[in-house]
Amino acid sequence: MEIRLAECAGFCFGVRRAVDTVYEQLEKGKTIYTYGPIVHNEEVVRELAEKGVKVLENKDALKMLPNCKAGEESAAVIIRAHGVPEEIYRILEEKGLECIDATCPFVKRIHKIVSRQSEEGNHIVIVGNPGHPEVEGIVGWCRGPVTVLEEPLEAERFVLPNDRKICIVSQTTFNYNKFHYIVEIFEKKGYNVSVVNTICSATEERQRSARTLATEADVMIVIGGRHSSNTRKLYEICSEECANTYFIQTLDDLRLELPKTVRLVGITAGASTPNKLIEEVQNYVRINF
Ligand code: F3S
Repeated sequence: MEIRLAECAGFCFGVRRAVDTVYEQLEKGKTIYTYGPIVHNEEVVRELAEKGVKVLENKDALKMLPNCKAGEESAAVIIRAHGVPEEIYRILEEKGLECIDATCPFVKRIHKIVSRQSEEGNHIVIVGNPGHPEVEGIVGWCRGPVTVLEEPLEAERFVLPNDRKICIVSQTTFNYNKFHYIVEIFEKKGYNVSVVNTICSATEERQRSARTLATEADVMIVIGGRHSSNTRKLYEICSEECANTYFIQTLDDLRLELPKTVRLVGITAGASTPNKLIEEVQNYVRINF
């Protein structure tokens, strides 16, 4: 029996980079805070908490930290891959805290675009989930009027309050087709629109490689957090192609009974699933079947 991991599975480039940054900083023996949980995976966050990493849940928690005076050993605050509003950098500076910026470069690019475009007087439209930290971060880099929307109906109802140009960007994980549909609505309205497609290909590649593997596999195992929407999506895709698809959060959830006829077991994992967990599942299947 063969066990095969999907070509793209688990952490994307930006999240891996952020998690690695936390481990690197831990080795330096500093007091480490992350602004928000570094990744949406309870296991990873718990493991880091055991090593002493503290999570700052919001701006108020950051403001409560004691100021650091010149010459004192400072605590380091790590900005996670989703990025944060510009204001957070200002607060860190005022407090004299060391800022270690692990914002994904693809997200940083969006910050630069909206900052420049709004400085030029353009109205920014962000296509994405207004409650998502990445979108909140992008809003915090706009220097003028900004609208966040995620549904075509909201685009239909949008009325530009002045004669500015519109610059449209998207949340990095937004659905590509839906983004284009929304852009078309804006274009049909006759506004002067410039569009920057800032959707990251990591999600799409993970989904594509999960589907490819699921079409060949007799059994598929999808690993990821219960509340992770991208893992649920992977599960849906794999179930369409492979009737024996299992969704597990940790190895403890895996109750596999594999008949002798099974030739290929495929494994994929959501964006917040650490490599260690993927390897554990791979080894378990290898040893037990
Ligand atoms: Fe990941 Fe960065 Fe893309 S955090 S999903 S590689 S934008």
